[in-house]
Amino acid sequence: MAEILAVDEALERALALLRGGDVVAIPTETVYGLAADATNGIGVARIFEAKGRPRFNPLIAHVADMAMAERIAIFDPLSRRLAQSFWPGPLTLVLPQRPGNGIHPLVTAGLDTIALRMPRGFGGDLIARLGRPLAAPSANSSGKISATTAQAVAADLGTRIKLVVDAGATPVGLESTIVKAEGAGVRLLRPGGVSAEEIEAAIGVKLFRGGAAGIEAPGMLASHYAPGAGVRLNAGTVGKDEALLGFGRQRAEGWRDAAAFLNLSETGDLREAAGNLFAYMQELDRSGARTIAVETIPFDGLGEAINDRLSRAAAPRDNVQPAP
Ligand code: TXA
Ligand code: MG
Repeated sequence: MAEILAVDEALERALALLRGGDVVAIPTETVYGLAADATNGIGVARIFEAKGRPRFNPLIAHVADMAMAERIAIFDPLSRRLAQSFWPGPLTLVLPQRPGNGIHPLVTAGLDTIALRMPRGFGGDLIARLGRPLAAPSANSSGKISATTAQAVAADLGTRIKLVVDAGATPVGLESTIVKAEGAGVRLLRPGGVSAEEIEAAIGVKLFRGGAAGIEAPGMLASHYAPGAGVRLNAGTVGKDEALLGFGRQRAEGWRDAAAFLNLSETGDLREAAGNLFAYMQELDRSGARTIAVETIPFDGLGEAINDRLSRAAAPRDNVQPAP
């Protein structure tokens, strides 16, 4: 079983594992990540094995500072402004790779672009000490709900990894927003912990969505973030054998008789709801209910990312492909 160590006692052990080509689960401000040295092919391969992740799905490389980022990728002026506005923080930029950057090709699934992010907190400190970028997807089995606590990581991956670094519940609770500058515009590839409105306000450019082909649609398997129970969206009623995930002051008809009930945010605060989303879905899943019925969540601000994750959780499951 994986050892769980608090951040203030984990640094040396985490460094030793990473230097030896092993993986470590680490906290970031968004969700827990399963990290390996992005220049070490054995370490990166172990990420895919531990998650059961298809190898055509590329990973995000995490950096400690702008100098490290510029050694890995080529920044256009718009991407540089995005980095200045939101790094460190929950924004990932897709950029052209700088040739000879030492990143193992497994990280990028052979693409000539790379997804880069500068995390806050322990992850940043660890990368600075290691002196190398860390490849890290969310620390969950492929297709399952992302982990926002060390305990959730250990419950899912604990038999397959040696160390989980514990910083408590992650503050944002949703994965990073992924964007890519294209000409004078910026494409939103995955809504996440920074809202589209915040990005537009910072750079004065409106994001565009859709039109991306193949691997450019992140989390491209439609079914993703799937709990064991079925998921039903925009529920106006709830059955006795269903659990209810509420939002604000709506209350689905029959809610008093539901198998379980949790409210993402009593006051209808989308930030609070984002922080609670994955842990509450896991908790309702454990209630044994047949289905998790979810009340309507508005689409503004972080609501876009919350609705994205919920609709993937509700998607038909038969399109999940086994890892090669
Ligand atoms: O908040 C986060 O982003 C977390 C923490 C651990 O940093 N990481 C995370 O990683 O969510 P992951 O692997 O679960 O999701 C990364 C997404 C994938 O859907 C992948 O397809 C996309 O990023 N991606 C990676 N490289 C890409 C590239 N070059 N072009 C387009 N999408 C890319
Ligand atoms: Mg993930």
